[in-house]
Amino acid sequence: MAASNANASHPLTLSGGGSLRGTVRVPGDKSISHRALLFGAIAEGETRIEGLLPAEDPLSTAACLRAMGVEVSPIRAGEMVTVRGVGLDGFQEPGDVLDCGNSGTTMRLMLGLLAGRVGRHFVLTGDGSLRGRPMRRVGGPLAEMGAVIHGRKNGNFAPLAVLGQELHGATIRTPVASAQVKSAILLAALTASGPTTVIEPVQSRDHSERMLRAFGADLSVGGSGNTEVTVRPGPALKGQTVIVPGDISSAAFWLVAGAITPGAELIVENVGLNPSRTGILEVLEQMGARITVLNARDVAGEPVGDLQVSHGPLQPFAIGAEIVPRLVDEIPVLAVAACCANGVSRLSGAEELRVKETDRLAVMARQLTAMGARVEEFEDGMAIEGPVPLQGAAIDSETDHRVAMSLAVASLVATGTTTLARSEAAAVSYPGFWDDLARLRG
Ligand code: S3P
Repeated sequence: MAASNANASHPLTLSGGGSLRGTVRVPGDKSISHRALLFGAIAEGETRIEGLLPAEDPLSTAACLRAMGVEVSPIRAGEMVTVRGVGLDGFQEPGDVLDCGNSGTTMRLMLGLLAGRVGRHFVLTGDGSLRGRPMRRVGGPLAEMGAVIHGRKNGNFAPLAVLGQELHGATIRTPVASAQVKSAILLAALTASGPTTVIEPVQSRDHSERMLRAFGADLSVGGSGNTEVTVRPGPALKGQTVIVPGDISSAAFWLVAGAITPGAELIVENVGLNPSRTGILEVLEQMGARITVLNARDVAGEPVGDLQVSHGPLQPFAIGAEIVPRLVDEIPVLAVAACCANGVSRLSGAEELRVKETDRLAVMARQLTAMGARVEEFEDGMAIEGPVPLQGAAIDSETDHRVAMSLAVASLVATGTTTLARSEAAAVSYPGFWDDLARLRG
């Protein structure tokens, strides 16, 4: 059997060898799922969400919204989710702390939504990982708009207290390209007293811009490379039907698994192909991977397609700061691909990985090294030498969902048996991952 014991108390046993074949439909895009719930909550009327990701992170967003009086129907795989919007200023003050779980997107976007709720008090917290992630990158820009947010270590860490204020418009340059920071500012801007412009160093994912426009916000995008976004407050948002495509960040595990496993032939269906997310496809193409986009189409304002991948020889990659925002969550699994490439792959400009759910540069270097990989870690990246025969080992997700699934992909090409501790972390973004893996190994 490919996978067994997928529970919290026992490491998961994964056997190497064999090949992957068949068709898989990855669950809904996590970024779009959070936004559909949040924007539906501040709209007027009902929002219907098809294909919402039924995983721990969006459940955290839904729970926070319910605690502020928003009706969100139960979130179950394959079922339409409805949100009854309360309008731009309709959140009730919650009687308890809002628990964002493991979800940085929940906490950061919520800060933007709550900062302008005059006279109301909110406290946001999360799990151990989230309480260790920097929040001043959001609190700082929001303070420029008049927000009052308190937290540990000078406002940088949760628990965070938000005391709702009248906000004013501002022009804000963000030092890091982060869709979470940009989106928090855009959401706060919806009820500010004047227009707000966010200027990023490089464009980050633009799901908020697309969806806010579809909900009726007055938003324009400009600057070189779409790096400047302006919101003019005023219009009420109107509930919409949102169709969530499959998550390219989840598809990435199958794309790399298909590219590195001898004999593999896979089709990943219904994958979101928003250009601000497709850096992974460009890098895999640079490596010579055999990937074809089938049935390219547009679904509710987002490009979508099916991806066919088969095994073949891989060349090393070179990834720098310019492309990192477009593949930031795919770097752990690209590190696995690098172990199978013919030469040294190089990653730089990726210091943001150190403040994700874990320090992903350190964790991937540590765990892949335990499997026999040759990895050199730098402050902002890594160099990985391939091809290296990976060996089965006792490894650990260190609680990070994307690390868990990346290491599972590595185990497919390792000799012998791998045991993976804390494999249940995958449920944060892809609850059916272990079942899909078992089925594709068939
Ligand atoms: C996300 C943005 C990215 C990404 C995260 C989801 C979003 O984070 O890593 O998984 O939904 O906006 P940053 O904004 O910190 O780059």
